[in-house]
Amino acid sequence: MQVTEPSDERLLELAKIAASKAYAPYSNFKVGAALLASSGEVYTGANVENGSYGLSICAERVVVTKAVSSGELKIKKIAVVRENGEGVFPCGACRQVIWEFDDGTQVITVKEGRLIKVSINELLPEAFRLR
Ligand code: THU
Repeated sequence: MQVTEPSDERLLELAKIAASKAYAPYSNFKVGAALLASSGEVYTGANVENGSYGLSICAERVVVTKAVSSGELKIKKIAVVRENGEGVFPCGACRQVIWEFDDGTQVITVKEGRLIKVSINELLPEAFRLR
């Protein structure tokens, strides 16, 4: 458990460090994500590609599955960035996966060189809901 909650800037920094661990030999597009769970715990992940291209998994879904399979059910914040520091907004599939664990979730990235924060509900209005 983290003692003090990391700042948005720190989450972006952790996401960038995580991006260095991406396995992206096909696209060379290395992405990292850092997730602050509502418990206060922080998780990181990176994209993992596959020679069967469609099996590649985005950094966001890697980090969400790490957190959820560790017992987390709510996401407070998720920061996403490339290894080179450029921002990335989650793809549509990842938006739906993040939304499943929404807790007023804020997505943090970089746009035009500046930190930007937007809610998952803004990024995915009228999300598909089964229950
Ligand atoms: N990717 C992510 O990891 N997150 C995104 O939000 C968009 C795309 C990955 C998937 C693939 O490995 C590479 O970036 C190029 O699409």
